[in-house]
Amino acid sequence: MEFKSKIKTIEWSNNVSKMVDQTLIPYEYKMVEIKSSKEMFDAISTMIVRGAPAIGIAGAHGIVLAAMEILQKTKDKEVFLTELKKHAEYLKSARPTAVNLMWAVDKQFELAKNSQSDVQGIVEELKQNAIKLENEDIEINKKIGDNGADLVKKGAAILTHCNAGALATAGYGTALGVVRSAFAKDNTIQVFADETRPRLQGARITTFELVTDGIPVTLITDGMSGYFMKKGMIDMVIVGADRIAANGDTANKIGTYNLAIAAKYHNIPFYVAAPLSTIDISIKSGTEIPIEERGSEEVTHINGKSICAAGVRVINPGFDVTPNELISGIITEKGVLYPDYTNSIKSVFS
Ligand code: MRU
Repeated sequence: MEFKSKIKTIEWSNNVSKMVDQTLIPYEYKMVEIKSSKEMFDAISTMIVRGAPAIGIAGAHGIVLAAMEILQKTKDKEVFLTELKKHAEYLKSARPTAVNLMWAVDKQFELAKNSQSDVQGIVEELKQNAIKLENEDIEINKKIGDNGADLVKKGAAILTHCNAGALATAGYGTALGVVRSAFAKDNTIQVFADETRPRLQGARITTFELVTDGIPVTLITDGMSGYFMKKGMIDMVIVGADRIAANGDTANKIGTYNLAIAAKYHNIPFYVAAPLSTIDISIKSGTEIPIEERGSEEVTHINGKSICAAGVRVINPGFDVTPNELISGIITEKGVLYPDYTNSIKSVFS
């Protein structure tokens, strides 16, 4: 039985990019229309759209919007490609850590560069490719879900961090894709969701998705995970990823590393679920992954209200890197990769 999620995150429709405004969840479920490359840059950087695969699709849409804008000014292919390249670099700079953004934008640019069509034809090809990437992402997530579901024991309690769900992808999700596929086979499983400070993606978005889809979920604050692991209430941890190095080191939402350490101490399997597009084989280890630094207000304020002494010093890295030795397996669309990751990752790319 296939699990049907009711959530559609982002789609190319009537020459605009339509996406759920994730800054409003759980108060409002509203689609917004993004109509230019600049609007797409802002949507990605302000996290109207977020989650590694979802910002990849957003980047692919951004290139289509850029191409449509350039087409208004020129039909000269060389000028068109020079301008498109500038937009590609601009869109890729919207957020630095999730490699899916660079992957999808580069894929779109390569398509334009290698096309034999005229400028008008290239724009059409970019639109079709954006739709293809969107549909493929959902199919890939379903495969990740099915591959991961085999690892979930009957009645398991799964702890997850941040949101690696339908809203972090074109649909279905990676870590929550595994949950959805496992739940379709065994409706006695349950999820524990970390709230995920500072932006509360776990509290706001993961609980919204799971409650919407009728999957049992318990919300906990980030500091509680060790307590519940010690009590024997967590059977496995599954998280998503923003960038995986060639040796398996994995960047994901800040707090993931703490979870992996706690899981290792308590002998609880710790899995990463991600598409191959999240693996960056050009970098050897996690030390090379750029970590996004975000504004201090995300830490000092909740819902616009200060929660600390005015003027306090703040540091706000958006992601951390979990070393490969803490990861039990990486669940991909091509199957589950196990240590030694340098070899298992190499074999899946060759
Ligand atoms: O800052 P965000 O909300 O974009 O961070 C998202 C995450 O860290 C997710 O876990 C990751 O992108 C995987 S999404 C399938």
